[in-house]
Amino acid sequence: MTKRIIHHPVLGTIDEADTVFFTFDNHKYQALRNESIAAALMVNGVRTLRHHEESGTPRGIYCNIGHCFECRVTVDGKQGMRACLTPVQEGMAVTSGGKLLTSVRDWRSQNE
Ligand code: FES
Repeated sequence: MTKRIIHHPVLGTIDEADTVFFTFDNHKYQALRNESIAAALMVNGVRTLRHHEESGTPRGIYCNIGHCFECRVTVDGKQGMRACLTPVQEGMAVTSGGKLLTSVRDWRSQNE
């Protein structure tokens, strides 16, 4: 029995025989095509997806349904992608979320 998410309410069903390779912070990992980046990394033992903008504490998946944005990563140069909702594709280059362009503190001072 697999520990992977094979049937996902948003992403659909995944073929366990259809594997792809992708990188996360320049390390190569194998995944099932179309499983979420978060699931693929978790299966490969990676739980930290980024670090908090202000405290620097490690962050990973929290809600796993696309609401909290704790799982933000950069995918092929596009920042702010949610790892829990983004399907893995062959050759995808994923990097940890890093620091947002605007810190949370700066955003609050301008928007609250
Ligand atoms: S874990 Fe909450 S949005 Fe991805």
